[in-house]
Amino acid sequence: MALDAKTNSLEEYWIPFTDNRGFKKDPRLVVQAEGVWMTDHKGGKVIDGSSGLFCSPAGHCHPKIVEAVHKAMSELTFVSPFSTNHPLAFALAEEVARITPEGLNHVFFTNSGSESIDTAMKIVMAYHTARGENRRHFVSREKAYHGVNIGGVSLSGLVNNRRAFPVTMPGIVHMRHTLTEMELKVPGQRVSGLDRAEDLQRIIDNYGAETIAAVFVEPVGGSAGCLPPPVGYLKRLREICDQHGLLLVFDEVITGFGRVGGTFAADAFEVVPDIITMAKAITNGSMPMGAVAVRDDIYETVTDKQVMGGIELFHGYTYSGHPGACAAGLAALSIYREEGLMDRAAELAPYFQEALHSLADHALVKDIRSIGMMGAVELFPGEVPGVRGVKMQSDLFWNGCHVKFTGENGIFAPMFISEKSDIDLIVGKFRETLDTVE
Ligand SMILES: Cc1ncc(COP(=O)(O)O)c(C=O)c1O
Repeated sequence: MALDAKTNSLEEYWIPFTDNRGFKKDPRLVVQAEGVWMTDHKGGKVIDGSSGLFCSPAGHCHPKIVEAVHKAMSELTFVSPFSTNHPLAFALAEEVARITPEGLNHVFFTNSGSESIDTAMKIVMAYHTARGENRRHFVSREKAYHGVNIGGVSLSGLVNNRRAFPVTMPGIVHMRHTLTEMELKVPGQRVSGLDRAEDLQRIIDNYGAETIAAVFVEPVGGSAGCLPPPVGYLKRLREICDQHGLLLVFDEVITGFGRVGGTFAADAFEVVPDIITMAKAITNGSMPMGAVAVRDDIYETVTDKQVMGGIELFHGYTYSGHPGACAAGLAALSIYREEGLMDRAAELAPYFQEALHSLADHALVKDIRSIGMMGAVELFPGEVPGVRGVKMQSDLFWNGCHVKFTGENGIFAPMFISEKSDIDLIVGKFRETLDTVE
């Protein structure tokens, strides 16, 4: 698939989360990919240091996924998920329920992480409504990223994602983020920041527990630049939620499917939330899909409220549980299991983290954070915040390596199929490029 300057105008496409004008002067197109490698439109090889966008632990173009989607598409390209359905959706829901923590056995399908978040918010509201409670506040956290739909943007703790959109949902209250300046360049969970779990108690004292519907957190902050929870933080949130009857929602769009240990972060940190949102690796990134796993009694409360024969939840997407996405999801989950990829991630994680932290001596590096197979190298900003990150990402790409940047944070999420030599190459190219960046 070549880029033909005569037939491919770059102007019409409004590219998401990208400096459109800079990109169109210096486009970086990927035309083919396999395993950990991508090929750019000039024929160069680019190693993937972020699993695309935290999506593809099993590598690009896994043949079993390609085959499964092809087969599904030749049998059924679409069926309405409203009041009709197809077997693959039930099979995938069963598979997801099998690997989620005990008690979260009901699965609602969406097409993205953003839709999973807005769906989770609506399920929370429907649950409280069914119980006759008027809980109108949601608690989120500074530096949170919960996607880009109106619910998720309202929960967002990243100001750039909010400032152009003045009308967001009312009733959102933010806890402080947990990052402190006390333990820089330390791998894994830190000790400092634990006291910020008490922000939840302050919010409850201020607003009244009976007005609060749920607390949404990423167990490990992802897009803000890999923010592992302080030791004991998630347990403390769980305790406070239990004490006051608040639902706890883990946004595991990045952390799900082995990225930070366990199958979900809920397993890694031994804290079971009431709802888990997921997307990305559910299909190894091959097809758009997200899901929301819900505690059984939440499902039952909402469904039992309606008279028999009536629709229980007035929510859903035309493409909820699309046959192609379900086939991709089933194939991805069986690959993770059969190839032991989550165990491989756990084995590789110490090597990856040590390699990443070898960048600590660089003069431009402010902090390095890591957990499992995710890590971030935070650079000191230049004169205008964000510009150094954009330049670094582009230069790194032309140096043959893809790493996702948010602001000055280079966020690494190597594929679980990576060899140690791939990790060395990713980190080596990052250092090389860093040496040339102003
Ligand atoms: C924690 C979290 N929630 C939600 C989303 C939104 O997912 P999507 O881009 O698929 O809508 C993301 C995306 O990176 C995410 O990291």
